[in-house]
This record gives sequence, C-alpha cells and structure tokens, in this order.
Amino acid sequence: MKAAICTSYGKPEVLQLKNVEKPTPKDDQILLKIYSSSVTSGDARIRRADPYIIRLIFGFKRPRKSILGVVVAGEVESVGNNVSKFKVGDKVFGTTGMSFGAHAQYQCISEEGTLAVIPENMSYQAAAAIPFGGTAALHFLRKGEISKGQKVLVFGASGALGTAAIQLAKERGAEVTAVCSGGNANLVSDLGADKVIDYTKTDFTQNGVKYDVIFDTVGKSSFSKGMKSLKKDGTMLLASASVGLMLRGAFSSMFGSKKVHSGVIKETAEDMRFFKELIEAGKLKAVVDKVYSLEEISLAHAHVDGGHKKGNVIISMNHAL
Ligand SMILES: NC(=O)c1ccc[n+]([C@@H]2O[C@H](COP(=O)([O-])OP(=O)(O)OC[C@H]3O[C@@H](n4cnc5c(N)ncnc54)[C@H](OP(=O)(O)O)[C@@H]3O)[C@@H](O)[C@H]2O)c1
Repeated sequence: MKAAICTSYGKPEVLQLKNVEKPTPKDDQILLKIYSSSVTSGDARIRRADPYIIRLIFGFKRPRKSILGVVVAGEVESVGNNVSKFKVGDKVFGTTGMSFGAHAQYQCISEEGTLAVIPENMSYQAAAAIPFGGTAALHFLRKGEISKGQKVLVFGASGALGTAAIQLAKERGAEVTAVCSGGNANLVSDLGADKVIDYTKTDFTQNGVKYDVIFDTVGKSSFSKGMKSLKKDGTMLLASASVGLMLRGAFSSMFGSKKVHSGVIKETAEDMRFFKELIEAGKLKAVVDKVYSLEEISLAHAHVDGGHKKGNVIISMNHAL
C-alpha cells in the first residue's frame, strides 16, 4: 500500500510517499480501507517536533511511528477473529489514537477504539472533518460545564477546534462569541456564533464584557487579561497551553474562584456516536477547508503550518487505486 512516511522531523518535505506492507488485523482489530483522513495541527506539530518535548515522547531523531495521521474515515475491509462491534463493509469514522498510521491507504484499529459508523448521507471527506476538532472541543466544553444562557467566548473560532466548539456550545444553549479574523466572520456566524470579534481590530479583553467560559483553542490570547474577562466563578479552557501555562492555570484554580482546565484530551467511541446523532439531527456540520490527495501531503502540511486553516484540511485516497 501507499503511505506518507515521516523520514525525519522538519519541513513538510520530510514526508515521502512510499510503498509499504499492507497491515494485517489482529484478533481484536478491523482492517480499514481509508478513503479520507485529515492533516491536523497535531500532525503538523509532531512533524515539526514543536514543542521539543515531542522528540522525547515520539522518538528522538524521527517519529518511531513513521506514518503520521490519526483521523480516519473509510470502509471495513476485513475483521479479526474476535471482532463483534463492526463487520466487513461498515463505513466508519474516528481516530487511530496513539497508533497513528492514518496517512496511508490502510490501517488496523482496535474495535474498542474511537470509532463509530459514519452518519447517514455523509461523505468520507466530511466525516474526516469531525473527529479531531470534535473530540477536543467536546472534552474541554464538558470541563466548562456549560449551561443554557451562559456567555461562552471561543478564541481561534475558525479552526478545527473552534468551528466544533461554536456548534457544541450552541447545542448546549450558550450565547457564543467567536473570535477570529474578519475574513472568517461569515463562516463562524453561519455555524451559530451570536457575536463575532475580529482579533486584528479589537482586543476582546478590553470590551468590558465578562464571560462564564473562555475557550482559547489556539493558545494565542493573553492568559492574565483573559482571566480578568471571566465572571467571578468563570472557567478558562486552554487547549494549547505550554507546561508553564498549565502550572499557572493549576495555581490559579487552587487559590482562586475561577477554574482553569488544560492538558491532554480523552476521546471515546461514545463521543463519535454522539457526533453521529448530532450530525443526523442537523446540529453539527463538517467544516472542510481544502482537500489534497495523499501524494500532495507535503502541501497539506504546509497549509496547516500557516496556522490559519478554516476548520479542517482533508487528505483523500484510494479512489484512484
Ligand atoms: N489539549 C489537547 O489534547 C489537544 C487536542 C487537539 C488539539 N490541540 C491543540 O489545539 C490547537 C488548535 O488546533 P486547531 O486545529 O483548531 O488549530 P487551527 O485550525 O490551526 O487554528 C486556526 C485558528 O487560529 C486562529 N489564529 C491564528 N493565529 C492567530 C492569532 N495570532 N491570534 C488569534 N487567533 C489566531 C485562526 O484565526 P484566523 O485564521 O481567522 O486568523 C483560526 O481561528 C493546536 O495547537 C492543537 O495542538 C490540543
């Protein structure tokens, strides 16, 4: 099969398309023929080894798992002897988690993994735009314990996490303020944002409004100013915090009335089934920026490195086999 191999850490060109052995499922695994994946900001960070600690976790000179990518949307081609949750021909979407390997034509995934059947009438490309931003946004919004009528501000609102967070917060009945550049105002309004702030013109921390929850999805807002824009018992959600900021957040939570949540998300198959329900009910839409072929993976990474993708960047494969 064809796969994008990460030959070392560095620029997008370190990714090279190679022929590798097609994997065989273990007893508890499905073999997925992948039709779409996504190049996420997480994939790009691993490829760049940004931050440096990535080398300590994933391999010093190059990633030990040489095929990057976690998001999958595809069809079950075969199943291991003990698999009972999925059958051959099922169309599924989800993530491969720490096994990676999604930027290839096939991957084996445990049937207990973060997987569910694709929603009715949804394309593979659209389905691949849901798992990454969706699971992360859901994880953090749960920590925020959002209730009806609360004021929620989403910073980085036009990215993968941001576009999912707007919709999931609206689904919980919140009043959502989206912060992004002016060019993306229509996108976030169409997803349900009640108010839009263009960060290139206005600093939201200076507008005098106090929020119940501030969700910084991209780590580009000022923590100290943001904390002052929270209500007395408000919650700060930080999806992209450095270790130093995580410690600062933990300290603030311990000694103040405002709560701060950061750290690594947990994702489950139940999350994916929840997204299927929301999508079929018309309450969650996929946001696809650009679609690239597996052969164009370096271009896709370069686009993600820019830090301004709209929602999700999709990789399409296997159609031209
Ligand atoms: N904690 C975890 O376990 C976890 C899980 C998943 C993801 N993450 C992290 O979540 C982060 C976000 O991922 P993503 O895929 O959503 O990112 P993304 O799609 O690349 O984010 C793009 C967003 O960032 C905004 N932005 C870019 N530069 C900005 C600036 N200088 N000031 C304000 N906004 C700016 C963009 O606005 P405009 O384009 O409109 O300018 C857009 O809204 C990543 O760092 C990722 O590593 C963490």
